[in-house]
Amino acid sequence: MLRDKVRIAVLVSGGGTNLQALIDAQKSGIIKSGQIVAVISSNKDAYALERAKNAGIPTTVVARKTHHGKEDFEADLIRAIDSAGAEVIVLAGFMCILSAKFTKKYENRILNVHPSLIPSFCGEGFYGLRVHEAALAYGVKVTGATVHLVNEIPDGGKIIMQKAVEISEDDTPETLQKKVMREAEWIILPRSVELICEKIKEEEK
Ligand code: GAR
Repeated sequence: MLRDKVRIAVLVSGGGTNLQALIDAQKSGIIKSGQIVAVISSNKDAYALERAKNAGIPTTVVARKTHHGKEDFEADLIRAIDSAGAEVIVLAGFMCILSAKFTKKYENRILNVHPSLIPSFCGEGFYGLRVHEAALAYGVKVTGATVHLVNEIPDGGKIIMQKAVEISEDDTPETLQKKVMREAEWIILPRSVELICEKIKEEEK
């Protein structure tokens, strides 16, 4: 089936600055091969939902808390993704680990942004501010962000893009988090999304 744009679902849990970067990239034309058709949040209070509404993107809440088990939760996620007709799934600050069954279903179609240079400071337990706390505690002088494909191993899928960020003496976990977002995540996530959408369109020709 040939169509203009690849349909994208963005999965979020929190503030949604990466979602905002994707929305802005769509407006500015950095993302031109895809279109965000759904924002799905695991948290009903996520500010990311406001950002989606402001951009006129349909939202769904699939709260982890209101589901008994992971299977139940993922079944609802799948329903929301498939009913939006999404082919690409972007995890943009989505704080739930997905099962092998889920990642197999969308093989090579799920992207995640992680706030370190994988394989450092990644895997289970490394998310959000904790990643930056760990980088500072270790004393590394360079960190960054990684966009990768999602498979059954947490943060273990094929790397698509990385960008390094220098750490200063006076960085705190909070200042480092902001710096990594601004200098790396918000740049490489939209570019990676465009890359994967472009590739999907190319394969269909
Ligand atoms: C981002 O720094 C993202 O890389 C990180 O959480 C933050 C979400 O911010 N994700 C992970 O740690 C996943 N392992 P946002 O909601 O403002 O985009």
